[in-house]
Amino acid sequence: MRPPREPFRIKMVEPVRPTTRAERERALEEAGSNLFQLSARDVELDLLTDSGTGAMSQEQWAALLRGDESYAGSRSFARFREAVNEVLGFPLVVPAHQGRGAESIFFGAVIDPGEIVPSNAHFDTTRAHIELRQGVALDLPVPESLDPEGEEPFKGNMDTEGLAELLDGPDAERVSIVMLTITNNAGGGQPVSLANIHEVARLAHEHGKKFVLDIARFAENAWFVQAREPGYSETPIQQIVREMMGEADAVLMSAKKDALTNIGGFVAISEDEEFFHRLQARGIVFEGFPTYGGLAGRDLEAIAVGLREVLEESYLRYRIEQVAYLGSVLEENGASVLHPFGGHAIYLNAAAMLPHIPAEHFPAQALACALYLAGGVRGVEIGSVMAGRDPISGENRRPPLELVRLAVPRRVYTARQLDQAGDATAAVLEKAEDVRGLELISEAPVLRHFTARFRTLS
Ligand SMILES: Cc1ncc(COP(=O)(O)O)c(C=O)c1O
Repeated sequence: MRPPREPFRIKMVEPVRPTTRAERERALEEAGSNLFQLSARDVELDLLTDSGTGAMSQEQWAALLRGDESYAGSRSFARFREAVNEVLGFPLVVPAHQGRGAESIFFGAVIDPGEIVPSNAHFDTTRAHIELRQGVALDLPVPESLDPEGEEPFKGNMDTEGLAELLDGPDAERVSIVMLTITNNAGGGQPVSLANIHEVARLAHEHGKKFVLDIARFAENAWFVQAREPGYSETPIQQIVREMMGEADAVLMSAKKDALTNIGGFVAISEDEEFFHRLQARGIVFEGFPTYGGLAGRDLEAIAVGLREVLEESYLRYRIEQVAYLGSVLEENGASVLHPFGGHAIYLNAAAMLPHIPAEHFPAQALACALYLAGGVRGVEIGSVMAGRDPISGENRRPPLELVRLAVPRRVYTARQLDQAGDATAAVLEKAEDVRGLELISEAPVLRHFTARFRTLS
């Protein structure tokens, strides 16, 4: 596959430091085999996350200079609110410093102990916010999402039969909101179809529940709807976005993804002034006054520009094709890769690539470390480490797939740089049996993957 042509040229550059294998071995040892603990200067190709790591456009940088840093009533907030309403269709918005700030505001206002929150698959911070309030974060992915090779176009969908059973069953009273994450990050970056969004919204509303979307990657999801869902190939992206949002009572946004900024987030709702004031009141305590919400005025300006820019079809085509290019390079080099390729990342099937490492020895963490040692490439484990422990039993959770996510920052790397991930994969697979499993030697009670330390088994 030829890489896509970039619809931009480069105006500012950041040097990448070459590293030696010996340097990387030392760095990984000091980091306790946890790639989150590495210094970024020791990484050559950083595919840890697509969150907040993108390059802003000249229009966004220009907008920064218009930032109105007034504590209250900032004009930047007015421009931000206008963009949220224009692009997404929500007039009532509470800004936050990032996605989890928005989650904290929202879940603090809606979750009572014992509350069940069904979703296609909760992202880790979403799950943490629900569980911190003694709620139950329930994943209801479609069964085909568990087949790493199936080519179904919308593997991010929610299992609507499972949802209907829950909402008709004895636990229905414990549900007040139903969520969908678009695209489904924890489920392989796979998109959710408009048909599924409509069906989930219908079920939620028929049962008197609120329908809530996590829209961190809404534009990428809209691209897949246009490309794959029957009847939408001629529908403009903006219109698809508005249809996706149309039935949501609330949306949670990490602006660090599809608002193309390095920081920011928000909760937006369509109506219900009373609920809005409750959200604002929580925002004031945890994030800041409602017209800045933990952000500088200039950040709000950059989000306003990014929300509109992300809808440009030339950008979205390049974005999705670049991720697919990475997927094809990895496969050419022998990797086992989740199909179809996701919107923001490629997911390596570690259990298939390192079959000699059992789940209790964290094969995906071992693979992520091996890729770093081989080529200075940093990915992230999405498997037994990230899944953490069951809050009640304390047992390690066992997710169905052991994955390494290689997320592509937006507008940052060239195709030649992404090739380095293919070279590293080939080098690891050449001596796959030399890769050893890991043992946990320390871990935090919540979101342990950020700080855990490991020992390599001999
Ligand atoms: C789907 C999803 N929701 C929420 C978040 C949390 O956002 P943030 O990292 O801005 O706190 C993320 C971050 O990666 C995400 O992917």
